[in-house]
Amino acid sequence: LNYNVTRDRRFILEILFNGLRRLEYRGYDSAGISIDSSFLSLPSSDPNGRSSDYAPSPLVFRQEGNIESLVKSVYKDAASTELNLEEPFAIHAGIAHTRWATHGEPAPRNSHPQSSDAGNEFLVVHNGVITNYEVLKETLIRHGFQFESDTDTEVIPKLAKYVFDKANEEGGQPVTFSQVVLEVMRHLEGAYALIFKSRHYPNELIACKRGSPLILGVKELSGDTTNGASFLDLKCISENGHPKELFLSSDPSAVVEHTKKVLMIEDGEVVHLKDGGVSILKFENDKGKRGSAHSRPSSVQRALSVLEMEVEQINKGKYEHYMQKEIHEQPESLTTTMRGRLIRGGSCKVKTVLLGGLKDHIKTIRRSRRIVFIGCGTSYNAALAARPIIEELSGVPVTMEIASDLVDRQGPIYREDTAVFVSQSGETADTLLALEYALENGALCVGITNTVGSAIARKTHCGIHINAGCEIGVASTKAYTSQIVVMAMLALAIGDDAISSQTRREAIVDGLIDLPNKVREVLKLDQEMKDLAKLLMAEQSLLVFGRGYNFATALEGALKVKEVSLMHSEGMLAGEMKHGPLALVDENLPIIVIATRDACFSKQQSVIQQLHARKGRLIVMCSKGDAASVCAGGSCRVIEVPQVEDCLQPVVNIVPLQLLAYHLTVLRGHNVDQPRNLAKSVTTQ
Ligand code: G6P
Repeated sequence: LNYNVTRDRRFILEILFNGLRRLEYRGYDSAGISIDSSFLSLPSSDPNGRSSDYAPSPLVFRQEGNIESLVKSVYKDAASTELNLEEPFAIHAGIAHTRWATHGEPAPRNSHPQSSDAGNEFLVVHNGVITNYEVLKETLIRHGFQFESDTDTEVIPKLAKYVFDKANEEGGQPVTFSQVVLEVMRHLEGAYALIFKSRHYPNELIACKRGSPLILGVKELSGDTTNGASFLDLKCISENGHPKELFLSSDPSAVVEHTKKVLMIEDGEVVHLKDGGVSILKFENDKGKRGSAHSRPSSVQRALSVLEMEVEQINKGKYEHYMQKEIHEQPESLTTTMRGRLIRGGSCKVKTVLLGGLKDHIKTIRRSRRIVFIGCGTSYNAALAARPIIEELSGVPVTMEIASDLVDRQGPIYREDTAVFVSQSGETADTLLALEYALENGALCVGITNTVGSAIARKTHCGIHINAGCEIGVASTKAYTSQIVVMAMLALAIGDDAISSQTRREAIVDGLIDLPNKVREVLKLDQEMKDLAKLLMAEQSLLVFGRGYNFATALEGALKVKEVSLMHSEGMLAGEMKHGPLALVDENLPIIVIATRDACFSKQQSVIQQLHARKGRLIVMCSKGDAASVCAGGSCRVIEVPQVEDCLQPVVNIVPLQLLAYHLTVLRGHNVDQPRNLAKSVTTQ
């Protein structure tokens, strides 16, 4: 946050706390904040803004636990130390951070901002991982620095202080804040979005990034000259004299309530906020990688984007939890995903799909030697659910890769391959790394993401946005179903030239149109799933068996249950049951079998019989009207769901399991939206 209009400290704190609350879903094990003690007493005559001899140390608060623990500690401290919350500031620069621990346990000393020294000469908040931190740490220790935390981040403010002190020792022109940060960046390896604050440069913030996401929001408080502008000379911001608020954030949800005008900061850029104005520098050749000592930074102009997100989208509305809201809004999110993409023929019959982001590449995809789907977690499961229909309609072999595993193995990716990267956030580090690997190997890279402007959206050759709307619950729900729908549409687009499959394709398009209604219908099982959750809430373990289109449903259903309700749960391929898992079956272990109508139905009936024969404790998900037949031969509880086109059935079938996971979590007393140890967007490897 950086602005040049008079506000008091309480206001500044609240803006930063609210921003953190919006970002909490990205990490929530500890948090910190740095605000200024006072600027009013500072001399303003030094043109470089270097008032280190006079500037008081910025205040730093760090706390283990969630944002509210930090809020309490700051206000408690204010009360006990007579920290004046009403003190006015004409210019202000504050930073805050909520953490998902990578290096070092959640503890105040490992929370951000990390500091250069006891006097907080340089403070840094960081999203990402510095991979060469050990080497840097050793060097800095040799230069007399003492480290307090276990984090990789702590080397950054200390390196800044080292660079600053060295420049001062050498004399000459005073070093600017940007120069310090540019020098620091040359030494950093890994992924990062950073914001620097310094006692030496009051009223200023520097942000920079490589790999991790970062946006700048621009709000003019009067005479809004940015209104409607699609391109902005950033220098104008500082020169036109209007009071401003500037916001830096890892994602738009912390900014949208203040402004919709944003800049997506690019890798290698250094953003300098000073007195409510902005300037951006970028390394000229290679984005400032280590070793490129000869690259020179130059000033850049950037286009402003307008966020499409609405504030209501990031509120819970009438729901108690984001996950609950996001499960229940799937009829609408699916409608938005399909909007404008289903094309009707002359007789008003729906004929095909239109995927604008792929139009110049669809022929290449069709002619690929192989289509490789790459993703992590729920996004991987969504691709797995879509794999059979893509194989069927395209005739192209489809393989599946978990992003980290592809990179670990350096698995073969060829120029003739189409590599499809599926990622809700578009920022997952493992998926991004796999994307870089596929680009290096010359494959056509397609992105399927929910985040316009995300790294995966920008770095792929072409792609499809799923348009599911902002998803805040850490457990992905509506993004999953929208991803499957988008990939079903991808299958239709690839297979569009085959006359032999036209009837099948039209049936799928009709199924897509009716899908939101069917999801509305299946959501009526909410109470039934709550009752089932009551029955299962004390269990240790839950197995889910599926096959064909619904192998993915088994994996995803089990993932939902384990990640939020913290109950052990495994999704398994039903065809593999007799090759091992059957040994676990007894009258106590609850087992969900997905046996909705499709080509695998009779095989699933055999599985149910084999489980009955071992007195398995069965819960069977079947198509409406099949309850009696699926349970013949033993006792079982049934979840009846509406039947849809086979390849779209995973979209319907996952909903009861999402509801079950949600209710299990509430009943077991766990945090629904922020499951233990997890984060929504994992921007570290
Ligand atoms: C994290 C989240 C999961 C998500 C996975 C992939 O692990 O907790 O819910 O499925 O990342 O995220 P992406 O944004 O790439 O879909």
